[in-house]
Amino acid sequence: MAKKILVTGGTGYIGSHTVVELLQKDYEVFIIDNLSNSHISVLEGIEKIAGKKPHFTKLDLTDKFATEKYFNNHHDLDAVIHFAALKSVNESVAEPLRYYKNNLESLINLLHNMITKEISSLVFSSSCTVYGEPDKNPVNEKAPLKKPASPYGKTKQIAEDILQDSIISVDFLKVIALRYFNPIGSHQSSLIGELPIGIPNNLVPFITQTAAGIREQLKVFGDDYNTSDGTCIRDYINVVDLAKAHVVSVDRLINNKSKEHFEIFNLGTGKGYSVLDAIKSFEKVSGKKLNYILVDRRPGDIEQVWADVSKANEILGWKTEKNLDETMLSAWNWEKKYRGIQE
Ligand code: NAD
Ligand code: UD1
Repeated sequence: MAKKILVTGGTGYIGSHTVVELLQKDYEVFIIDNLSNSHISVLEGIEKIAGKKPHFTKLDLTDKFATEKYFNNHHDLDAVIHFAALKSVNESVAEPLRYYKNNLESLINLLHNMITKEISSLVFSSSCTVYGEPDKNPVNEKAPLKKPASPYGKTKQIAEDILQDSIISVDFLKVIALRYFNPIGSHQSSLIGELPIGIPNNLVPFITQTAAGIREQLKVFGDDYNTSDGTCIRDYINVVDLAKAHVVSVDRLINNKSKEHFEIFNLGTGKGYSVLDAIKSFEKVSGKKLNYILVDRRPGDIEQVWADVSKANEILGWKTEKNLDETMLSAWNWEKKYRGIQE
C-alpha cells in the first residue's frame, strides 16, 4: 500500500515541487495549506506534471481545534513534511508577533497531534539563516549558530530547539531538519514555480519580473562587501534538486535508517555566487540585458554564506544535479509562461 505523507504548506513554492516528486515516487500525498501565500491553482499544475492529484485540505495550522479534527480523520499518516510558515524577512521585522505566532504555534500544534497519534517521522524546513554570518565558508552543520538578523530567522532557531527538546521526551519521534540555502528556479515543465505575492523580496523573482517588464529596475544591494566583485555571495540551489532531498529524507525516516532521532542536513550546491554572477547567468541564458543599478547595502544582509554539503552527499546519498545557468533558465521560462510572454 502507498505510504501516506502529509505535506504542510504543500501549495507553496518548495512544497509544490516536493509534492510532485512524492507523487512521482508513488506516495499518497495529503496537503494542508491555509493559502495565505499560495494559490489553489497550483494543484492543477501538480496534477498535470504528476498525472495524479494530491488530497487537499484548506486549514490553518494555528487553529488548534481544526488541526486536531484533521488528525482525528488522518491518524494513519506515515510521515509529515512541514513547510508551512511565513518566510519574509522584512515582514517579520515589521510584524514579529505574527511571525512567532504563525511559525511556532503551527509547529507546536502539528507536533502535539503527531505525538498523540503516534506519527513518528517529521521532515522540517529550516534555513541557513540559523548560521547568521558564519566565521568561515563553506559552513557545515557543526558551525555555531549565531543570532539571526530577523524574527523570521529566530523562528527557525526556536523551531529547531523545540524539535530537539521534543525528541528527548518522546522516544518514537524522529526528525530531519533540512537547512536550505537559497532555493531558486522552477520545475522544468514551467507548470509550477515561484509565485511571490506582491513585490518580491528575493533576488531571482525580482530579476525575472524586471526582465518581464513588471518591475522597472533591479537594485543590487551593496557593492562594497569584502568579496571578489563587492556584492554578496549565496549558494543558489535548484528547487527540484531541493525537493528530491525531501523524498530521500522521508524514505530514510520511514525505513528507520536515521542514525539519531534528530538529524540536520545542509541543502545547497556547495558553490557560492555573487549577485553580479547571478545577473550574468540570467543575461546569458535569457539573452536579455537586465536593467539594474548598484545601491546601498540592505540592512541585515549576510556578506557571504555557502554550504558544506558533504554530510547530505554522504549520509543521504543526495546531491544537486542542476547548475546555476540551468536553474536560472528554468526561473525565466516559468516567468515567461506565467506572464504569457512569447519570444
Ligand atoms: P511559501 O510561502 O511559498 O510556502 C509556504 C506555504 O505555507 C504557503 O503556501 C502558505 O500559504 C502556507 N502556510 C503558511 N502559514 C500557514 C499556516 N499557519 N497554516 C497552513 N498553511 C500555512 O514558502 P516556501 O518558499 O515554499 O518555503 C517553505 C518553507 O521553507 C518555509 O518554512 C520557509 O521558511 C522555508 N525556507 C524557505 C526558503 C526560501 O528561500 N524559499 C529558504 C529557507 C527556508
Ligand atoms: C533571505 C534570508 C533567508 C530566507 C530567504 C527566503 C537572511 C540572511 N536570509 O535570504 O533566511 O530563507 O531570504 O526568504 O535573512 N538582492 C539584491 N536585490 C534584490 C534582492 C536581493 O541585490 O532586489 C541580493 C541580497 O542582498 C542578497 C542576495 O541578493 O545578497 C540574495 O537575496 P535574497 O534572495 O533576498 O535571499 P537572502 O537574503 O540570502
